Amino acid sequence: MKNYRVAILGCRGRGTAAARAYHAHPRTNIVGLCDLIEERLNTVGDELGVSGRFTDLDEMIRSTAPDIVAIPTGTEFHYDLCMRVLEHGVHIEVEKPMCVDLEQADAVIKKSQDKGVRVAVHHQGRVGAAMQAIGRAFNEGKIGELRYIYGSGKGYYGGYGLMNIGTHMINDILKFGGPCRSVVAQTTTEGHPITPQDVVSSPSGMGTIACEHITATLQFNHNVTGTLLQHRFDRMDSSAYAMELYGSEGRLFWKSGGAWWLPQPHFIPDGTHDEWEALAPIYPEHYDAKKGASEADYWFVEEYVRALDEGREHECSGLEARHVIEIMMGIFESAAYGTCVNLPQERRDHPLLRWRTEAGLAAPEAMPRAYGEWLSTVR
Ligand SMILES: NC(=O)c1ccc[n+]([C@@H]2O[C@H](COP(=O)([O-])OP(=O)(O)OC[C@H]3O[C@@H](n4cnc5c(N)ncnc54)[C@H](O)[C@@H]3O)[C@@H](O)[C@H]2O)c1
Repeated sequence: MKNYRVAILGCRGRGTAAARAYHAHPRTNIVGLCDLIEERLNTVGDELGVSGRFTDLDEMIRSTAPDIVAIPTGTEFHYDLCMRVLEHGVHIEVEKPMCVDLEQADAVIKKSQDKGVRVAVHHQGRVGAAMQAIGRAFNEGKIGELRYIYGSGKGYYGGYGLMNIGTHMINDILKFGGPCRSVVAQTTTEGHPITPQDVVSSPSGMGTIACEHITATLQFNHNVTGTLLQHRFDRMDSSAYAMELYGSEGRLFWKSGGAWWLPQPHFIPDGTHDEWEALAPIYPEHYDAKKGASEADYWFVEEYVRALDEGREHECSGLEARHVIEIMMGIFESAAYGTCVNLPQERRDHPLLRWRTEAGLAAPEAMPRAYGEWLSTVR
């Protein structure tokens, strides 16, 4: 079987995590690393013994002829870098969120299709060991017929939480719900329905956002509905980042690193209807935690290898990520205009920028990039 040649563009936190996973996997070889800052390049290069080190991405791709280029950079660079890398006709994976609006996502998908290559987006939770366990239990019919899906965030300011964490959660929800037909959002900022003045620039380069608190209802086929919460809490809590599937015969509960099954449809904490059974996580047989890769990043690589071997999309494909952006933009549109938004929407411009323009306002001003500083400015 072919070993895939991989180049990493961006060698900081997420780039290091991606590099460890591709380095650990027996079917992928890292042939090049690129960063604008040589110290970062050398740190990862020395750790993994990669000699192909570059500060120019085009030169890296020309010199190393990779099959896959990973793009783990700040979100504001995803669009330009995806387009530039795809021009070389290589498969890519890009960190989440894929892009900050639908015009960008459409252009990336079109470019990949024109070039005949694949796009994967690093929504690794969807293929991680706990989700594999949930998927197996679901496919075995352990909860009967799916009725409802609940997903929550970590407590960031709602609109930012949507772009940052909601992108993962929606992608997870789509695994079970399938395509989303429409969204309706109830949102507030400082206790009132949002106004065009509440539209702001996101921290971490995630485009334009609004809404301190978001409750969104998602409608899927076969009468399946979902609720997505992105509520701001005073204290962030990763344990709030969880998904629950409600079926006619039982429930499944996922959180990063854990999976549980309730063998009846209704949960009552009465000692009889609350016996959640832990499900064993499922790992690729060759996964070795001692090699330094997180299991979810490793699974993401394993899934890319399988997808390319089989000539199909990655489970966390660009197409799926674009649908995630359709849902996120649909939530913003519903919040602004107070309507139910049918998907996929025909208008691909950012709905919050459109709303501001219609109100006679310019695009929002730049804000601090760091979340803490941003939060003290947005108040
Ligand atoms: N999937 C996850 O679990 C997860 C978790 C956290 C963050 N993220 C996402 O990861 C991304 C941020 O990753 P990070 O924190 O490692 O970013 P970072 O900004 O810390 O590092 C990016 C690196 O890329 C380099 N770089 C940027 N542009 C470049 C260019 N043109 N050529 C060469 N190098 C370039 C920078 O010098 C930097 O070293 C965001 O999109 C964020 O949403 C994902």
